[in-house]
Amino acid sequence: MKRATFLLIFGVVLSFCQAQSETGDEETAAEEEHVELFTTPQTKMGAATSDFGYNLFRALASRETSSNIFLSPISVSAVLTQLSMGASERAQRQLYRALRYHTLQDPQLHSTLKDLLTSVKAPGKGLSTAARIYLARRLRLKQEFFALVEQQYGVRPKAFQGVNKDMAEINTWVAQETGGKVQRLLTSAFPRTSGVNTVSASYFKGKWVTRFGQSGAMQNFQVEGAAPVSIPMMQQDNYPVKMGADSDLSCTITQIQMQNDVSMFIFLPDDVTTNMTQVEESLTAEFVQDLSMTLLPAKVSLTLPTLKLSYSTDLLPLLGDLGLDEWLADTGLEKITAQAATLSSVKHKVVMETAPEGNQYPGITSTPSHLVYRVDRPFLFLIRDETSGALLFIGRVVNPKALTI
Ligand SMILES: *[C@@H]1O[C@H](CO)[C@@H](O)[C@H](O)[C@H]1NC(C)=O
Repeated sequence: MKRATFLLIFGVVLSFCQAQSETGDEETAAEEEHVELFTTPQTKMGAATSDFGYNLFRALASRETSSNIFLSPISVSAVLTQLSMGASERAQRQLYRALRYHTLQDPQLHSTLKDLLTSVKAPGKGLSTAARIYLARRLRLKQEFFALVEQQYGVRPKAFQGVNKDMAEINTWVAQETGGKVQRLLTSAFPRTSGVNTVSASYFKGKWVTRFGQSGAMQNFQVEGAAPVSIPMMQQDNYPVKMGADSDLSCTITQIQMQNDVSMFIFLPDDVTTNMTQVEESLTAEFVQDLSMTLLPAKVSLTLPTLKLSYSTDLLPLLGDLGLDEWLADTGLEKITAQAATLSSVKHKVVMETAPEGNQYPGITSTPSHLVYRVDRPFLFLIRDETSGALLFIGRVVNPKALTI
């Protein structure tokens, strides 16, 4: 999956065919100059949580082949890491492998993650998250576990009884943690037979560095195998981005700067297609880091859908795809309970909005942008914290008309 080269071609019209001959040389050069991309505990942790996130996204994408899908993987990392604190050595090893912690060799793993979570949730970055474990009271829970997680992550796991009052409490807590933005995470109470449940939620509304002058105008968005849909778009000329074309992935990629060192990457396939398998397969922390260093600055006429979306799913069925089948069969949560405890649900809900606001105006130039970047067909995007490299949010939009909050 590692891609040594990334081909860029610029011009009045982006073209994809000329650079093939350069491939061989670049490959050799890239191998010779291979440098360690992630050097500090925080960027290593950022890469681990991102790689877990890309794996989770691929698992979801391969089950939901042609629909809108969204995840905020870092909140899932957070809650599964809390759970790992209750695991036997064997079970922890299995979880750490899926969470991509096994290569970190970080003796301060929990502190590093805690610091990362604090820094990506800093005011101004636009992210709020909630992550908590809910445990059936009938499991005769060990109180030390509650204290352990609370001390490390500042959030106390909670026992529930399996009544409607539990659901109201959980939904209220998630709403509070996300500034009222993620509502109704649960639509029914955990069943009485339920054992261990995790809840993770995120709200993201980043602010662009450069604002969009026009917004709200209804424009056509192409949909595969159906008539175009009319949706509100934001538009701005001379918009500064970083950009490149990838001939192997048959897409153009744009990185748009957001405030407080966050950015959005958009992968726009050349054709109108919901099949983005190739792009999805290529995503790793290393690939995206390479990309961010390879994309070139450009001024473009940029058109983006105004997104408002809410997405909710149970990630439990995906965990097997991440190599956790054995762990699911025997969770080894011995520090939580002496009884056999099964994982009953991995609830995840995300809400995201984009708006035209930014704190800078695009520069005025006498010549309009030659390059046009119109996101008017199915695309994939990700939101990345540039400081740590951590993946905050990832999504595939195939039909924005179907998105609602
Ligand atoms: C999606 O595209 C890949 C090649 O990029 C192809 O192998 C795969 O069969 C396609 N999937 C579907 C469902 O069409």
